[in-house]
Amino acid sequence: MSTLVSEDASMDLETVGWVGDARSGHVRLIDQTLLPNEFVRIDLTDVPGVWEAIKTLRVRGAPAIGVAAGFGAVIGARSGTDTRLSLREATAYLRTSRPTAVNLFWALDRMDRVAAEHPELYGAELVDRLLTEALAIESEDKAMCRAIGAFGASLLTPGQGVLTHCNAGGLATADYGTALAVFFSAHAAGKAIHVFADETRPLLQGSRLTAWELQRRGIPVTLICDNMAAQVMKEGKIQMVVVGADRIAANGDAANKIGTYGVALLAKAHGIPFYVAAPSSTFDLSIPDGSHIPIEQRDPREITHGFGRMTAPAGIDVYNPAFDVTPADLIAGIITERGVITPVTTATIQRTFIA
Ligand code: MRU
Repeated sequence: MSTLVSEDASMDLETVGWVGDARSGHVRLIDQTLLPNEFVRIDLTDVPGVWEAIKTLRVRGAPAIGVAAGFGAVIGARSGTDTRLSLREATAYLRTSRPTAVNLFWALDRMDRVAAEHPELYGAELVDRLLTEALAIESEDKAMCRAIGAFGASLLTPGQGVLTHCNAGGLATADYGTALAVFFSAHAAGKAIHVFADETRPLLQGSRLTAWELQRRGIPVTLICDNMAAQVMKEGKIQMVVVGADRIAANGDAANKIGTYGVALLAKAHGIPFYVAAPSSTFDLSIPDGSHIPIEQRDPREITHGFGRMTAPAGIDVYNPAFDVTPADLIAGIITERGVITPVTTATIQRTFIA
């Protein structure tokens, strides 16, 4: 891994991309663990580097993880003399990086399928074809995010306050985001909205990333601690909640960053519509409901030693699930690249994706 010099952020974040050709190129991504203090891109030239970047959240957010893994598979395929075996080993290894976001497995399945569907390709030719697939995953994600933004923006009216949790922005996708795309699109269409961003303990994706993304696009944003959401809703400041997702089951139960379920319950208690914004790559139609979604457990030190300083007694027992599941009946609609699914049921989801 090598570190490049810091640079000014442009509007198009280019969160994760490929540099060079298939045979000698590499992955370049924004190291999100350093934001908002430093904007630094890192270059990754081997599969363990890509695995580590996903595991440690240098690249995070369900769609961005999928894009990074696709590129990682290209690097893996060319790392040994037997391209097919090397690809299989790389994708199997990358699958172990994080369990919850289905986009990771969806992207790696696509990469494995390329090899299976092209038995005539060997060596460098197969690697070329794999890069074509990884680039398609990236560009399709960009297009899906734009469509989600447009569909979601139509749900908002000028003057509304909206709340989001974690980061489902350009940093979490190939570009533009899912939940934040809704706000970006509304803002671009001249709808004045005000976003409240939950800071999102323990890793602060809301304050470090969402607040940063909204601020740099000139969208009014107010940062709140997670435990303030109920009060802000009670004060009448929120008319809609929009969040992203890491995996959505066939019935619409949606896994997202820990704390999302609580926000959905608060929204229901205050009569506020709660929306999930996600591309088709985030749906896992192989599982009937959210009870089948694997929930990542993370290092207790993220809670006891958040950002440098010990904030709990030594030896304390800690529980640190990274995600929770919001039941479909709390979700007013799922904003996808194919339109807004509402009501959220197994039948409406099937109609959207298995037409
Ligand atoms: O642990 P993270 O930061 O990868 O969690 C990210 C989220 O929960 C996002 O809301 C989700 O991936 C949707 S991103 C468009």
